[in-house]
Amino acid sequence: IEDPKCVAKTFPDYFEALFSICETERERIPVICIDGPTASGKGTIAAEVAKALGYQLLDSGALYRITGLAASRAGLALDESNEETIAEMALEMPVRFDAQQRVWLGDEDISLAIRSEEAGMNASRVSTLPAVRSALVDLQLAFQHLPGLVADGRDMGTVIFPHAPLKVYLWASAQCRAERRYKQLISKGISANISTLLADLEARDARDMNRATAPLKPAEDSLQLDSSQMTIEEVVAQVLSWWQERQLFGRA
Ligand code: DC
Repeated sequence: IEDPKCVAKTFPDYFEALFSICETERERIPVICIDGPTASGKGTIAAEVAKALGYQLLDSGALYRITGLAASRAGLALDESNEETIAEMALEMPVRFDAQQRVWLGDEDISLAIRSEEAGMNASRVSTLPAVRSALVDLQLAFQHLPGLVADGRDMGTVIFPHAPLKVYLWASAQCRAERRYKQLISKGISANISTLLADLEARDARDMNRATAPLKPAEDSLQLDSSQMTIEEVVAQVLSWWQERQLFGRA
């Protein structure tokens, strides 16, 4: 289809309708993985790339954040002593992402609750538990729908989608990430302090990179991108151009 926009006026939902009735083996549905450390901009970049391509979006960090939230609300210590209980909770959580990317746990909108720094730290804690990681695998694979998926996280390219045709490892200096996180929180009306953010972020990096199961590291076949001096638009353009190069007809 050379001009997909031709349906815009007469049948705007054409592709949604088409892809809802098309089927193919899961392995054939393309996945773009965007992994990297906390606050590297993965979330924003993944959402923009997904929008540009009309692909599904998987924010895998949100799943760990929801698990951390549910477990801490249940009064559980987020460590090995409760590993199996937290893993069972993760398997049964009534999680839903709506079209506006709001996150629901049952009938509660927890989009804001899971974005606090505390929720991020709790997510990082539960994510070190191997049984919790296994419990979330199927949930993550279930996001692989036509026409394609953009998956953001720590182990998308190394563990969950090892055969993805494009893996990007996005990073930026810790100072730069702390400043970005600061601006992001303030813009959402959440108060923040740069030096506390920097210390938290470095602690989280250390835990994410040094855990035994699925530690954060670039996949061997990933393309690395240092976004410290780049705008969001430049990073999105770079990822889309790499994707274009991987496409069968992309160079035409
Ligand atoms: O991307 P994020 O900040 O929302 O992730 C929160 C935490 O969840 C992060 O510190 C580590 C964990 N995580 C993970 O272990 N594996 C993923 N694929 C995504 C997140």
